[in-house]
Amino acid sequence: MRYDPIEPKLFTKNRNNFLCKMENNSIAIFHSNDLMPKNADQVMKFKQNSDLFYLSGIDQEETVLVIIKNVDKHEELLFLRETNETIKIWEGEKLTKENAKKVSGVKKVIWNKEFKHSISKLVNKASTIYLNSNEHPRANIVVESRDARFKNWIQHRFPEKEYKKCSNILYEMRAVKQKAEIQLIQKACNITSLGVKRVLKYLKPGVYEYEIEAEIIHEFLKNRSSGFAYDPIIASGSNACILHYGANNSLCKDGDVVLMDFGAEYANYASDLTRCFPVGGKFTKRQKSVYNSVLRVMRESIKLLKPGVFLAEYEKNVGILMEKELVDLGLLSIKEIKNSNSIPAYKKYYMHGTSHHLGLDVHDVSNAEKPLESGMVLTCEPGIYIPEENLGIRLENDILIAENGNIDLMEKIPIEAEEIEDFLNI
Ligand code: GLY
Ligand code: MN
Ligand code: MN
Repeated sequence: MRYDPIEPKLFTKNRNNFLCKMENNSIAIFHSNDLMPKNADQVMKFKQNSDLFYLSGIDQEETVLVIIKNVDKHEELLFLRETNETIKIWEGEKLTKENAKKVSGVKKVIWNKEFKHSISKLVNKASTIYLNSNEHPRANIVVESRDARFKNWIQHRFPEKEYKKCSNILYEMRAVKQKAEIQLIQKACNITSLGVKRVLKYLKPGVYEYEIEAEIIHEFLKNRSSGFAYDPIIASGSNACILHYGANNSLCKDGDVVLMDFGAEYANYASDLTRCFPVGGKFTKRQKSVYNSVLRVMRESIKLLKPGVFLAEYEKNVGILMEKELVDLGLLSIKEIKNSNSIPAYKKYYMHGTSHHLGLDVHDVSNAEKPLESGMVLTCEPGIYIPEENLGIRLENDILIAENGNIDLMEKIPIEAEEIEDFLNI
């Protein structure tokens, strides 16, 4: 792997926490992701299933983890793709049983040709079967995963069994990060910081957005990131008002501001940052006013991210902060705010949410019915988008919720408007 080995005790602890929440006489089954096909005989770059990685640390295709809970005996099984000389020649080394034990801490590793036979016996004996599935509220699932194919197969074979969703246990656990996970997210943030520094040296009028993207990925790969944690947005001028802009094809012109939303992935953990730089090295007075409004909302919002807070209530409070700034910028009137009905007036210039969980997934999973807790990592990313002024400003840092005041994992990355200008004019 490109990243340093992760201590297996992280995965052992995660499995034990999951096991504690399982019913007696039950089993839970987690599959890796598929290698997704491109065209002809090619496949896309492999991306491991976050749940399987969280519980095993195994970063290889065709893997299955099974956790068995009985009153008297608990067991864990890891099914692996059996390697051979041909695979070794064409694809390189795959995990041996010994290496898989070392990575995951699972003691019993079996080649996956045994899987269907073994799992049928285990399911037959168990009363409750936990099946894994993607339950992210915004997931748009049009492709059947290995987990989903297995669900169809096993439920058809054993229709009388009681089935439960792993996500009901797992999402709450995954939202509260272990120390080792926070270190990995911090490492991803540090690599992102190197990308920012490189852009600060590179940006000038006449560069294309994709040239900025190329500078960033160079820095990421050089520092052992597997790449972008999500498709980067490099959006100059009015492109910044397209929330999911990804073409990154335009010329950055003097007088424009370029919005850059990018983050490095390290050891499957994501970071997520947004910065806005003036292409010519200096903000106009108006650009700086809008920039500072967003920065003020961000700083105040970060203070609101505390244990016990519900995200829905937090978003309402951020909306109030944003409305004040929009009035001061002359973009909204008090009357418009008072007259707004079900959709708050600020949504005209600030259409998205302020914070999401971050971890193995950029928009990480959680139990949305629970309030924030110490150990959670969330982004804070307010923005103001004014297409009629060719201007979109968003600022985004990654914040660790802690008991005695939260910790900004991107604290050291330049954010003050003057600081940015100074770096751009060295
Ligand atoms: N770039 C994804 C996000 O900021 O949520
Ligand atoms: Mn982002
Ligand atoms: Mn984000």
